[in-house]
Amino acid sequence: MNIVWLPSFETGIVDIDDDHRELVEVAQKIEKTLARGDVSMCLTLFHEFMEQAARHFEKEEIFLKSVDFPRLESHRAAHLRLLEMGKEALKTVEADHGHEAARKCLEEIIFFLLEDVIKADAEFKSYAQKKGLI
Ligand SMILES: [Fe+2]
Ligand SMILES: [Fe+2]
Repeated sequence: MNIVWLPSFETGIVDIDDDHRELVEVAQKIEKTLARGDVSMCLTLFHEFMEQAARHFEKEEIFLKSVDFPRLESHRAAHLRLLEMGKEALKTVEADHGHEAARKCLEEIIFFLLEDVIKADAEFKSYAQKKGLI
């Protein structure tokens, strides 16, 4: 599988798009690391990814609050679920350094990206467009 950044991922909100791009970059690094079979590096990168994601979610929630996004609470709940999923994936890889666990960790990351960047964030993109914010 190849993780690529697509123009359709852009929300039009520069700060948020920059974060999303950075998250995709780390996911790409993890993919390459995994292809080399370097599970401990994959783990280090996954930690980094989770920290970045947590900071990004926090920043995004502040933005959504500032524009009175009506579905902020459910968006926040989705972020929390994603962080929990990521933590579970981390635990799996930490408990079993095998290639299979690392591959699973990569899958979780991809799911993460798709859930937040493509699906969930598209919702506030259309809201911001309607409000003339972007
Ligand atoms: Fe989000
Ligand atoms: Fe996001």
